Amino acid sequence: MDRLVIEGNGPLSGRVRVSGAKNAALPCLAAALLTEGPLTLTRLPAVSDIRTMLKVLQALGTSAEVVKDPEGFELTATLALANPAEGLRAPYELVKTMRASILVLGPLLARFGRASVSLPGGCAIGARPVNLHLEALERMGAQIAITGGYVEALVPGGRLKGMDHTFDKVSVGATENILTAAVLARGTTVLRNCALEPEVTDLARLLVKMGAQIEGIGTPMLTIHGVERLGGCTHATIPDRIEAGTHVCAVVAAGGDVVLEAVEPEDLRSLTDLLERCGAAFTIREGAEGLNLRVQREPGQKLRAKDVQTAPFPAFPTDLQAQVMAVMTQAHGISVIKETIFENRFQHAMELERLGANLRIDGGTAIVAGPCRLQGCTVMATDLRASAALVIAGLVAEGTTTVDRIYHLDRGYAGLERKLEGLGARIRRIGGGSV
Ligand code: EPZ
Repeated sequence: MDRLVIEGNGPLSGRVRVSGAKNAALPCLAAALLTEGPLTLTRLPAVSDIRTMLKVLQALGTSAEVVKDPEGFELTATLALANPAEGLRAPYELVKTMRASILVLGPLLARFGRASVSLPGGCAIGARPVNLHLEALERMGAQIAITGGYVEALVPGGRLKGMDHTFDKVSVGATENILTAAVLARGTTVLRNCALEPEVTDLARLLVKMGAQIEGIGTPMLTIHGVERLGGCTHATIPDRIEAGTHVCAVVAAGGDVVLEAVEPEDLRSLTDLLERCGAAFTIREGAEGLNLRVQREPGQKLRAKDVQTAPFPAFPTDLQAQVMAVMTQAHGISVIKETIFENRFQHAMELERLGANLRIDGGTAIVAGPCRLQGCTVMATDLRASAALVIAGLVAEGTTTVDRIYHLDRGYAGLERKLEGLGARIRRIGGGSV
């Protein structure tokens, strides 16, 4: 099993190119099921979750031609689904490794009127049910039963029907699943209380390129006029705001001066605004490939502690909560960090404590008292973003930090250690190769 070994305690400097967003790419890949194609998606991050989604699509009958970029950070996939596999089944063996596999349910019902998708089980960060997805699909006319651990869904008559639906709760995945179901439904669907995350907007833009009729993109109310069929197109994935935010947190925690290339600074506003108030400096400039974001914090410059509360976009993302906690271990004062999205997303806290962080957990609240002198030891990654937080802490800690179980990290970061090495970090992978 691979692990990362980090010799910490040095500033970061240089330039790093951020990869495409995993969480935008996953629903866009699932959208390939809506058309005979071909659909070409570029700037897909070369991470294991993307490979899992490609396997799910192949199990459903999709042909996929995948090309890696020379550096190995990104993929281009050309997908086509002419002859669906019998049973249209997304198997447990794949779904259990990645919950986002449930995103194939909406497109399959929309195009074929039937699907069999393993029900995602429990998750390290919280219960994460899919009731919002299933309820909305039932309102569109799908008959759904849970049989033998699978969501068995059938649309009598073969075509979903439009509806007016308010999500009980803001959900990224439910918005994406129902949006991809509604584009081929009969009539108009109005979805209210939709998630505003940039990844949802990216999916909606892809669907429009494929021929979908969607109004209200980027707002909480989406109006979708169903069409008879969708076609292929080429689409570049948006930059990964969480990868970018992870680099930002690394620089602010360890000190340094780094330019993040090809990012969307507006999508990172909640993080940069917070860290600016802590004492970091940010500058946005036009770059060769979109916008660049420069992040600066003089090594030794005092950071001020600030409180953080996670909430749906545009508020502070839960996917950066762990990384910002690592930053707050270096800030002067008390930081109260409230996690409101997932009930069990503080597993990194105990590992940070092993490195010397001074913190307490009370339900959904973490209290960090800084600055803490971190000292390297062996820590264990428990989920994707927790792993990133431990890497950041390792960059700050004195001595050697070993982060174990980094297969979690490999689910969502393309070569994070190689990118950090390029910024001067002393970090190496032991035990195998990159994904
Ligand atoms: C997406 O998960 C992301 N995953 C997550 O990123 C991210 O943490 C999350 O959105 C929140 O931003 C992908 O995009 C693939 P939700 P998703 O539905 O869609 C509850 C990462 O690290 N809920 O917006 O599964 C749910 O339990 C990952 O990259 C229901 O109650 O999240 C949670 O409390 C982890 N019923 C809240 O809604 C449902 O049917 C928001 O979850 C669905 C969700």
